[in-house]
Amino acid sequence: TSNAMWGGRFAAGPDAIMEAINASISFDKRMAAQDIAGSRAHAAMLAKQDIITDKDAETIREGLLTVLSEIESGTFEYSTALEDIHMNVEARLKEIIGEPAGRLHTGRSRNDQVATDFKLWTRDQFDAAISGLTALMAALLEQAEQGADLCMPGFTHLQVAQPVTWGHHMMAYVEMFARDRSRFNDARARMNESPLGAAALAGTGFPIDRDMTAAALGFDRPSANSLDAVSDRDFALEFLSAASICATHLSRFAEELVIWSSAQFKFVTISDRFSTGSSIMPQKKNPDAAELIRAKVGRINGSLVGLLTVMKGLPLAYSKDMQEDKEQVFDAADSLMLALAAMTGMVGDMKPNAPQLEAAAATGFSTATDLADWLVRELGMPFRDAHHVTGALVAMAETNGVDLPELTLEQMQTACADINENVFEVLTVQKSVASRISYGGTAPANVRAQVKRWKAELE
Ligand code: ARG
Repeated sequence: TSNAMWGGRFAAGPDAIMEAINASISFDKRMAAQDIAGSRAHAAMLAKQDIITDKDAETIREGLLTVLSEIESGTFEYSTALEDIHMNVEARLKEIIGEPAGRLHTGRSRNDQVATDFKLWTRDQFDAAISGLTALMAALLEQAEQGADLCMPGFTHLQVAQPVTWGHHMMAYVEMFARDRSRFNDARARMNESPLGAAALAGTGFPIDRDMTAAALGFDRPSANSLDAVSDRDFALEFLSAASICATHLSRFAEELVIWSSAQFKFVTISDRFSTGSSIMPQKKNPDAAELIRAKVGRINGSLVGLLTVMKGLPLAYSKDMQEDKEQVFDAADSLMLALAAMTGMVGDMKPNAPQLEAAAATGFSTATDLADWLVRELGMPFRDAHHVTGALVAMAETNGVDLPELTLEQMQTACADINENVFEVLTVQKSVASRISYGGTAPANVRAQVKRWKAELE
């Protein structure tokens, strides 16, 4: 049998394979609530503009609410033959209210309808990402505040570089996640235009009021070009790109937690709540949540590249290719929200291992730069010469199997006769971090000021 929605020009129904490749209901049923909200706004507008009667609009409204409650209670029967959520809802509406259901689609097409539904769905995900990031930042701020004075090694090339504080390290992630949050905010503001009323591609001759439907659905304004409105998926691409960058940050942090929780580092204890054991090795405690967060970026990046590839080369306006947009965003959004929640839980629970961090901070000649700076400041030595003298002292310490503060003054004076007792003051990690008071530096006072600034910002 031919299709109820467009069967007029068709003598036969679709091949089974056609139906299988064409249908999107298996995934786009996630937009049911958005579809019904869009239809309610459209019907109310049609009545206000006298395109349908108030009575029909009221019947449609009540019918849509019934459909929604069937969907929410799980009694709704989805049909693959009806292809997508839009036609499933409309067909059920027709069963419930009869003839007025056929008037709902006046001045509208599935092309503007799907763009509207998908935008509403994605907009919620922008909001979820923003609040998920805010929660993560709050958890990091607590860690930073607790550990503002706690010294740890700072690394470059994963080799010990200079001492930093735990708080400073946590605050580096606060900055990264704050940029992520602002990317989601920017994109959300840009995407908030209503496609509804663009109809198939050219607009409509009915006297619709697009401002009214835009306002009813929480959009800032109707989109200004009907061709663009039905063919634009920038909002999905921007969500996916902001999600990819955010997931990249989460992945880098997760990698640090995996390293830090190892027996070789012992920098941090991840709570039992976010760890798993091994079925064969009784001693094992594995950082699975961190590893999975590290991995989620793979699917999220994949979704971004997938949708970019679908969209490239598509002529205006709607093409069915665009039906392949939703699963990418659904999967990326699910992955991102889960990763954000897991990271927030893990950060809230984790315990820095202070003795181990402080001890590690003092290894690897981490205060060598402080020594070179001291030679410049106290002896007036050019920095390049100071670098050379310090290098010789590091080599001496390494040969003797000690760290820099353990060299004697006499040993130091073989590299530079003018070095005096005071040099030892700058060689401790506490002195080193306390001296880094330049704006943005690791000094505990700076970290406290940044924690305060961000706490005020988050309120
Ligand atoms: N299921 C379709 C999608 O996701 C809805 C729009 C169909 N429009 C059309 N002209 N066939 O894109």
